[in-house]
Amino acid sequence: MSPDPTREVVDHIVDFFDRFAPIYDDWAGGQHGRVAARLVDLAAPAKDEHVLDVGTGTGLVAHLVAPRVKPGVVLGIDLSAHMLTIARRHTDKNLQFVGMAAEHLVFRPETFDLVTMGEALTYFADPTAALAEAHRVLRPGGRLAVSCQRRSLNTRAQELFFQGLTPLARRHYLSLPRYSSERAQFGEPHVLPKILAGAGFEVGGLTEMVTGGRASDAREWTELMAGAGPRPYTLIRALGPRYRDELEAEVEAAMASLGDPDEAFRYHHSYVLVVARKR
Ligand SMILES: C[S@@+](CC[C@H](N)C(=O)[O-])C[C@H]1O[C@@H](n2cnc3c(N)ncnc32)[C@H](O)[C@@H]1O
Repeated sequence: MSPDPTREVVDHIVDFFDRFAPIYDDWAGGQHGRVAARLVDLAAPAKDEHVLDVGTGTGLVAHLVAPRVKPGVVLGIDLSAHMLTIARRHTDKNLQFVGMAAEHLVFRPETFDLVTMGEALTYFADPTAALAEAHRVLRPGGRLAVSCQRRSLNTRAQELFFQGLTPLARRHYLSLPRYSSERAQFGEPHVLPKILAGAGFEVGGLTEMVTGGRASDAREWTELMAGAGPRPYTLIRALGPRYRDELEAEVEAAMASLGDPDEAFRYHHSYVLVVARKR
């Protein structure tokens, strides 16, 4: 039987999140938590509302929503068992975490007042189906709050590093499944509102969030970039100590080639956040 390419990417993504789960919340000084907090503020959950957090991960969004909607109920769903185990460490009476795919929700139509998707849309096997499901389970006028990474604001140092991953994979005979490159565009301010409008939502405001910093050396840089997604993680973690030293020497050389010490090891973490209403 020939392998199902979508299944292979889903497995690769879930495997990444399972392995990364213990350090997800602390990555880049708690970056995911800051994005989650911003998304929740924009979504403005209110007392008594019922909320579904799709691709909940370690529950960063769901944990912030639960106290605001009490006695309303919050459900977090995800495919990564290890992310869900961490999410369940902080639980509340009105909060539950369940293993479920974004594309196949078991809920009745018009069940929720708010659906949140924090940094998750680009990882779903079928983002269109996931948005259609979100639309179906929202009551009329219900809100969908989405955050997506905006890759076009990556620094030159990030661009250079990510470009170097393809030859690195080839050198180590690694062939990693991935979704089409159009997903890298989801977090652009002219793209995300269009995607949501196409799924039957009326887009209200759009908020941008840009943070960044500078790693002090190649070791810190590669550690940070390993957490940027399934592909860099798998590639970097596949290297033994000798190849890892080699990679770090290449990173040093690449940063020096930028010709500006201020640009070397500099990174941006940029996001677009949108709250839309079900039409
Ligand atoms: C970057 S994390 C986001 C976690 C959390 N929402 C946050 O804001 O920090 C993306 C999550 O989407 C989950 N995921 C990927 N594909 C999924 C799918 N088809 N259905 C449900 N969850 C999925 C992953 O397991 C992962 O936990």
